[in-house]
Amino acid sequence: MYGNDFTAPDEGSREPAEDRLAEFERLLETEGRVEPRDVMPDGYRKTLIRQIAQHAHSEIIGMQPEGNWISRAPSLRRKAILMAKVQDEAGHGLYLYAAAETLGADRGELLDMLHSGRQKYSSIFNYPTLTWADMGAIGWLVDGAAIVNQVPLCRCSYGPYARAMVRVCKEESFHQRQGFEILHTLSHGTEAQKAMAQDAVDRWWWPSLMMFGPTDDASPNSAQSMAWGIKRFSNDELRQRFVDMTVPQAEVLGLTLPDPDLRWNEERGSYDFGEIDFTELFEVIKGNGPCNKQRLAHRVRAHEDGAWVREAADAYAAKQARRTSEVA
Ligand SMILES: [Fe+2]
Ligand SMILES: [Fe+2]
Repeated sequence: MYGNDFTAPDEGSREPAEDRLAEFERLLETEGRVEPRDVMPDGYRKTLIRQIAQHAHSEIIGMQPEGNWISRAPSLRRKAILMAKVQDEAGHGLYLYAAAETLGADRGELLDMLHSGRQKYSSIFNYPTLTWADMGAIGWLVDGAAIVNQVPLCRCSYGPYARAMVRVCKEESFHQRQGFEILHTLSHGTEAQKAMAQDAVDRWWWPSLMMFGPTDDASPNSAQSMAWGIKRFSNDELRQRFVDMTVPQAEVLGLTLPDPDLRWNEERGSYDFGEIDFTELFEVIKGNGPCNKQRLAHRVRAHEDGAWVREAADAYAAKQARRTSEVA
């Protein structure tokens, strides 16, 4: 089913390919975890590297729209919270690049692929953050959608990815609540503040729904990812879960979601919602979003500006290694 393209760090092993496949499949069947030194099909390794890298890139590019507002946060308390949140996202990027490295990927190469546009990051970060209320809408909706996507990844078949997700999800739920709290404060403030909150929700709602990817019938790679225990639920299932979770929260906020077709469906026990205009998403993915060029240029500049830090760290590591060998 997976062909004979197995790779593992222990290439010298003389086990027949069939036995190695059986071991991998047994792990999947028993809901065991595949670990870095286990044999795995090449396609499994490549799929995971691509997915984890794209996830890592999204975490670090995602620092930009919010980083923009650190200097303009309305109070010291808000500034401290936003700084902690943006720093968490950098941490998420680090866990994920480290998880990709356990599969044999090189972090420098992954970053090169991001910088040259050969690997993508989540399109949601190509939208601009126009007002302070966008910090609320991003936390509530974008981090909220990320949680729904990522909680099932805590049970992903690949151990290092699954374990990284446990901590990431705990932090994401904190992010989601801080976004909700920003919007709650604004929506219970002056008329102008409430209007600002509503405008942010109007702009971020549909892009958040698109974070779950294309509809199931237009999502050809999903079946394989499900068979490999990487993906646990389909795009449409996760999107529905997000809608069902978010609508009651919007009611508490006193804000409306910009979809005239949104209504409770008694029979399904879920909310029906309007059709998503994916033409816009595909334009953003192609690089024609409002901020694609700006985000990537900023990222490349930050990487180049940080070259001296990487050189200093290398020099320090070399010095430490020299000392250790001298002592030995
Ligand atoms: Fe994150
Ligand atoms: Fe987050």
